Amino acid sequence: MKGIVFTELIEMVENDLGIEIADRMIVGADLENDGAYTAVGTYDHGQLIQLVLSLSAETNVPVPELVRSFGVHLLGRFHALYPQFFAASKSTFEFLPLVESYIHVEVRKLYPDAELPSFDCSMNGQTLVMTYRSKRPFADLAEGLIQATAEHYGDQVEIARENLGAKDGTEAEFRITPIAC
Ligand code: HEM
Repeated sequence: MKGIVFTELIEMVENDLGIEIADRMIVGADLENDGAYTAVGTYDHGQLIQLVLSLSAETNVPVPELVRSFGVHLLGRFHALYPQFFAASKSTFEFLPLVESYIHVEVRKLYPDAELPSFDCSMNGQTLVMTYRSKRPFADLAEGLIQATAEHYGDQVEIARENLGAKDGTEAEFRITPIAC
């Protein structure tokens, strides 16, 4: 997993909860590199799980909730860093299918060792059905990213989720439906 993911998590915790909690999260995670990450480095995704488990113990906030909040934060950072990807679409329903067919393809060109999930997308009437599959259990991260995408475009949507496969967060179906106003 790219270092940018780790530096963004640490920055989010520093900004939202303070430097002390961020330090305690890193110490509690008992990492071999003591929480020293560079944006272009590559690290074991297990370290992200260790950090979030430690943060959960520190704050009493459940892990899935923390990972979803991190997804929301990350989308804001992706928007700041790569505004052109967002400008190319007018809505959530245009943007989300491009994550698989275009955005993550470009990410892979920038970072050939990026570890990316796959998303199967199809429309069922007005509902966008997006199936997440990964070797890593980050369906909660995907959920936060999807939720924040809808907020970014100002689209009112309902996001229904069903865990699939081993139901361990490596596979999930998201059904994203506009809420009629
Ligand atoms: C401009 C928008 C986006 C950019 C630039 C981007 C880029 C990235 C990058 C750099 C990573 C880390 C890869 C690694 O650590 O090796 C990543 C991972 C990930 N991305 Fe995206 N992404 C974007 C939008 C999205 C959206 C909207 C979703 C959800 C629908 C999404 C889902 C994920 C997930 C779940 C991961 C974690 C890895 C995994 O689950 O296996 N991304 N993305």
